[in-house]
Amino acid sequence: MYSIRGKVALITGAAKRLGKATALALAEKGAHIIIHHNSSAHAAQELMKQIQRLGVKAWTLQADLSASEECEKLFTQAAAAAGPVDILINNASIFPRQNLAEFTEQELIANIQINAVAPLLLSRKFAAQAKRGVIINFLDTHITEYHAAYAAYHISKRMLFTLTRMLALEYAPCVRVNAVAPGLILPPEGEDESYLKKHAERNPLRAYGNEDDITAAVLFLIQSGFITGQVLFVDGGYHMKGNTYGV
Ligand SMILES: NC(=O)c1ccc[n+]([C@@H]2O[C@H](COP(=O)([O-])OP(=O)(O)OC[C@H]3O[C@@H](n4cnc5c(N)ncnc54)[C@H](OP(=O)(O)O)[C@@H]3O)[C@@H](O)[C@H]2O)c1
Repeated sequence: MYSIRGKVALITGAAKRLGKATALALAEKGAHIIIHHNSSAHAAQELMKQIQRLGVKAWTLQADLSASEECEKLFTQAAAAAGPVDILINNASIFPRQNLAEFTEQELIANIQINAVAPLLLSRKFAAQAKRGVIINFLDTHITEYHAAYAAYHISKRMLFTLTRMLALEYAPCVRVNAVAPGLILPPEGEDESYLKKHAERNPLRAYGNEDDITAAVLFLIQSGFITGQVLFVDGGYHMKGNTYGV
């Protein structure tokens, strides 16, 4: 088992929602946490204090991951603040509703940059530290089908899925690279719990999940020393329905 206690974890988009839940879950296991944020500076500061009260170290770092140079700088600043990073969680993401006929080239590039290129750049810097470590990428259960209403996002998450396996092969044996693919967990911005209730019937388990379901999967993958290149779907079984890609 890979022990989390005393390790340094960099979590992107960690100020709120699933990133925050993951940061707290790792801190509760004894990890020191670098909270990356973009616009959520206040929430990141509040989370830092909450994590420090758990008896571990915490830092906040701001970076706009739509700029490659900020990705590189983020990792350099993280290592300068906390020392070598042991765990990298690529959680930050954008999720715009855009179909194939309508998204602009710039919108497509923005999705790919933030959701796939930024994780790649951070993973390279992480692996270049040449020490043992773990990367977790956040995918989406919809990678198994054609997610037409979120087409640019879908392309970017499919790219991150492929990168998960490529990185796992390239950086073995030092670095393990795995992914979680959440399904119906938190409502998108502007929606409330009624959104989750409405869509729960689409899942074989006829239910929706919560942050604990995600953090349990993340902790499992981090601690499982013999697992790499794996995608763990945390989605009530949704990935088996309408699976157009055979993932
Ligand atoms: N929520 C779900 O049910 C669900 C379902 C399927 C997949 N997922 C995946 O799980 C992960 C977490 O989901 P979530 O709903 O918690 O995410 P989210 O709230 O949509 O986004 C997480 C964070 O990403 C950061 N971010 C966005 N654009 C950025 C940029 N240009 N530079 C740096 N950071 C940026 C934001 O940070 P700031 O707030 O600091 O700007 C935001 O708080 C995502 O990868 C998502 O695709 C979630």
